[in-house]
Amino acid sequence: MNNSPESRPVSVITGGASGIGYATTEMLVARGHFVYIADRDEDKGIACQKQFGDSVEFFPMDVTSEELFEQLGDKIISGNGHLHSFVNNAGIGGALGPITELTVEDYERAHNVLLKSVFLGTRLAARIMSPQGSGRIVNVGSMAGLYAGCSPHLYAGAKAAVIQFSQSVAVELVEKGIQVNVVCPGYTKTPIITGVTDERWVERAERIADGNRDSQPMPRIAEAEEIAASITWLLCDAPDFIIGHPLVVDGGCTVGRPWRLQPEFMRTYHS
Ligand SMILES: NC(=O)c1ccc[n+]([C@@H]2O[C@H](COP(=O)([O-])OP(=O)(O)OC[C@H]3O[C@@H](n4cnc5c(N)ncnc54)[C@H](O)[C@@H]3O)[C@@H](O)[C@H]2O)c1
Repeated sequence: MNNSPESRPVSVITGGASGIGYATTEMLVARGHFVYIADRDEDKGIACQKQFGDSVEFFPMDVTSEELFEQLGDKIISGNGHLHSFVNNAGIGGALGPITELTVEDYERAHNVLLKSVFLGTRLAARIMSPQGSGRIVNVGSMAGLYAGCSPHLYAGAKAAVIQFSQSVAVELVEKGIQVNVVCPGYTKTPIITGVTDERWVERAERIADGNRDSQPMPRIAEAEEIAASITWLLCDAPDFIIGHPLVVDGGCTVGRPWRLQPEFMRTYHS
């Protein structure tokens, strides 16, 4: 089977073998893209390779490695050399706990996987896209980067940095014809939430999976496809004028208190 990108639009999705990344892979392939899935999960990556045939190439890598990003760049250049889009999506929940218990190792792991990877991926994409004068980059942030109390501390800090880093780079790259934007998901039904292994996460994950009824205007958790559709829209359909935008896809969680939980006097006032 010919597995080369040929003349199709080429996209890279880090963490593209699972959850939001997988759903985005599916949508881009449906639009005729050739997708490099850059992921450390070999089982899921190989399964994607089998499922999508010559529309996908699995590139096993740890997104914290500068050397592996360079190898990924060589692969793209030796393919058709043109890069349509790059999604920095790989992520982990990171350590959970009060600030007094977190270690420097916890900090480094969270920031390497969630932030250093976005720097390395954005830099690689910019190096390839700048000479071609076009391209779209979407970095996956989180509502946790905008709104406190819904995630572990180190995750929240790294995601806030992803948003501001992306906006800073967006301002530079717009002059080279490259659009950088951010998608900030709310709670989404993927293994990062549903496949938790840390016991302290389990109760919380069950509550989230139960519909996030206490805190969110839309009383349910998102489907991965809803986030993937937002990423795909920014990559393929959004007007050129959208630059450095943090697109929040969270069922209203960061917008305001659910109407059903408003005090009675407010409901009376508005009726
Ligand atoms: N699910 C949610 O509720 C939620 C909410 C907000 C933001 N996000 C973000 O969405 C993105 C995708 O997560 P998801 O929910 O689809 O979870 P997921 O666990 O299904 O997918 C994450 C993917 O990243 C890969 N990955 C993790 N560390 C890696 C590394 N060091 N090198 C290479 N690949 C690595 C995993 O193998 C996996 O395929 C993440 O950045 C996450 O922080 C998720």
